[in-house]
Amino acid sequence: MSIRIKTQQQIDGIRKSCQLAAETLKYLDAFVIAGNTTDYINQVAHEYILANGATPAPLNYHKFPKSICTSVNDVVCHGVPGIYELKNGDILNVDVTTILNGYYGDTCKMYNIGEISAEASDLIEITKECLKIGVEQCYPGNRFGNIGYEINRYATSKGYSVVYEFCGHGVGIAFHEDPEVSHIAEKNSGKRMREGMIFTIEPMINQGKARTKIDKNDGWTARTIDGKLSAQFEHTVLITPKGHELLTNVYHEF
Ligand code: MF3
Ligand code: CO
Ligand code: CO
Repeated sequence: MSIRIKTQQQIDGIRKSCQLAAETLKYLDAFVIAGNTTDYINQVAHEYILANGATPAPLNYHKFPKSICTSVNDVVCHGVPGIYELKNGDILNVDVTTILNGYYGDTCKMYNIGEISAEASDLIEITKECLKIGVEQCYPGNRFGNIGYEINRYATSKGYSVVYEFCGHGVGIAFHEDPEVSHIAEKNSGKRMREGMIFTIEPMINQGKARTKIDKNDGWTARTIDGKLSAQFEHTVLITPKGHELLTNVYHEF
């Protein structure tokens, strides 16, 4: 398989979808509060995405039963919205992927429920920095491996571990396209980035061990094997002639 180079028309369509995905995360800010269930967050997101003329990509994707992923505390990714009631001190990742006019936009971020511990807050800040460090490696001619090399180097220097069982990915025309964007890699390994490529960077960073296990009951929810916290941020990135454009960064988080 090869990495798609998107046309200008495709880029414009993907940019719109990415903006909607990012706006959905922003819209959810007011609803991610103690006492609300993850199912309620799912319902609010679902309706917002539909009201904006798009559909949620996760729904029925490989039989995923909901419209977004909600990953609480030790859940690394792919948490399935349900009856869980958010409580003070929880950390939550919401991952939104929209399909707008056939184009995909994919982004996720962390939310604090009320007051969180200093440890949880540090993990979230370092994870956000990992995404930023990965994004800085995005320019034509650079190799994909340098994204993971720099993320892993930084995360481990802070005493955290990097999840290697889930990766970033090409995105835009389909949900998951080539290449796989690993968040741990050898320096100068992998293919070269080229203008017009669009992919995600979505580091999952753990307090404890890097390994994950999938919930046997739902077949989706990935948790840390040691029950310690995990955090994740995700952006969809376009390679431009001189560097990159963050397609899901409408609020300029960094
Ligand atoms: N949005 C996730 C990603 O960043 C994928 C979710 S797949 C699902 O790649 F089926 F769980 F929705
Ligand atoms: Co993704
Ligand atoms: Co995602």
